[in-house]
Amino acid sequence: MKFLFVTDLDHTFVGNDNALVELSDRLLNHRQQHGTKIVYATGRSLSLYQELQQEKNLITPDALVVSVGTEIYFDGNNTTDSEWSNLLSPGWEREKIVFITQGFPELTPQPDSEQRPFKVSFFLQQQDSGIIPQLESELTKAKLNIKLIYSSGIDLDIVPLSSDKGQAMQFLRRKWEFAAERTVVCGDSGNDIALFAVGNERGIIVGNARPELLQWHKQNPAEYRYLAQDVCAGGIIEGLKHFGFLE
Ligand code: GLC
Ligand code: MG
Repeated sequence: MKFLFVTDLDHTFVGNDNALVELSDRLLNHRQQHGTKIVYATGRSLSLYQELQQEKNLITPDALVVSVGTEIYFDGNNTTDSEWSNLLSPGWEREKIVFITQGFPELTPQPDSEQRPFKVSFFLQQQDSGIIPQLESELTKAKLNIKLIYSSGIDLDIVPLSSDKGQAMQFLRRKWEFAAERTVVCGDSGNDIALFAVGNERGIIVGNARPELLQWHKQNPAEYRYLAQDVCAGGIIEGLKHFGFLE
């Protein structure tokens, strides 16, 4: 039976080369035989995704979710899905957000390639992460419809309230009519929490997951979520077998 496979890239799908080749082969077979759909959900922009795609020879996904869920691309098409961006536009005022963040010297802007129409990103050292609640309250006081996502003890993303990897995943799941039980999401860090938290899709946390995700998992245990022993794609194969998606 087909399923919807949604995975983060860095340190989840990618990071264990032998297992990546095995998993990719199995997914391609499943897609060909059963119509399984493959989706990448990454924090990277489209241009940084393309670098990784070439470097690791990644198989072509059925849809690509980039920039932490704020852009969706179908079938190697180079323009973002407008249905999705129309859902993110209301109440999103990028200039105002940038202006308010300038009052926080702890925030260092990420490279230009990672500043996107629906994403404003910074580096923020772990020891300074205590400013996040204050930043959030300044932004919401200004009536800005935003969400803050902190990953890996360094990356801070500001995105529309209605977007993240989890919302984008559910948008695709509904569009393609997959039940939550036939959907599996995989991740390792803070920006993946939304994939696991949004509903009761099956979840695989890879063995090398970051503390922020492990801590969230401990506080929100669920039987439809599996914590793998093995790292990266090896952990994904382990989880797919656990749920019976693969033999
Ligand atoms: C990727 C993106 C970066 C983002 C991070 C966490 O590394 O390039 O902009 O902050 O993921 O979501
Ligand atoms: Mg990752």
